[in-house]
Amino acid sequence: MKKTIDEHAARFDSIAGEYDDTQNDTDEYRACVSLVVEHADPGPEDVVLDIGCGTGAIGLSLAGSAKRVLGRDVSEGMMEQAREKAADAGIENFEVEYGTFRDPNVDHDAPVDIVVSNFAMHHLSDEEKREAIHAIADLAPRRFVLGDVMFFGDPDPENPLYSPEVDDPATVGMLADAFTDAGFTLTAVEMVHEQFGVLVAERSPNSERVAEE
Ligand SMILES: C[S@@+](CC[C@H](N)C(=O)[O-])C[C@H]1O[C@@H](n2cnc3c(N)ncnc32)[C@H](O)[C@@H]1O
Repeated sequence: MKKTIDEHAARFDSIAGEYDDTQNDTDEYRACVSLVVEHADPGPEDVVLDIGCGTGAIGLSLAGSAKRVLGRDVSEGMMEQAREKAADAGIENFEVEYGTFRDPNVDHDAPVDIVVSNFAMHHLSDEEKREAIHAIADLAPRRFVLGDVMFFGDPDPENPLYSPEVDDPATVGMLADAFTDAGFTLTAVEMVHEQFGVLVAERSPNSERVAEE
């Protein structure tokens, strides 16, 4: 991680008020949001965990079709925006609280059916991403949908569509290996751009043990 969690939180606190209007206002971001929502596809009994929920782009979109959406983030400013948007829309089943990738602050006795994350995991180093994916596997969701900056080929150093000073994107190969090692099977790979994509991972039938241990 190129910045600490507190440094990321402070950075997002400072832009939270303008995030929806000025940040990530790109075709690639919008395409990832649409694909994450489409692939998450929760049913009315499903509990969804949205890690790095920010101002709620994904969580608010899924709340109408899920039983509950647990939004987790480290930036109070971003979370406050998400809570305000939920209140304005009359959405009561989007519950936003502090939580990190490695400790998402969920009750281990209550099931999480689907985990989603969009444009947030690239703040972690590859080793931290692996640990995060294992922590998510321990929650035993049936599906994990990850939209993010990720490299399908060698990134053009002259044209990074991310901020190298704060972001630490992984290759698709590294992410695929981490999912597989944690007991997931990769069921869809959506390349939005050679530096952006959406991965869908489902639990392998024999991986229940991971959650029980
Ligand atoms: C670029 S925003 C994306 C927000 C939202 N998912 C979206 O699609 O618009 C990244 C978010 O990840 C959060 N974040 C950064 N590091 C985190 C961590 N270790 N655990 C949880 N959230 C984190 C930031 O506070 C920020 O709100």
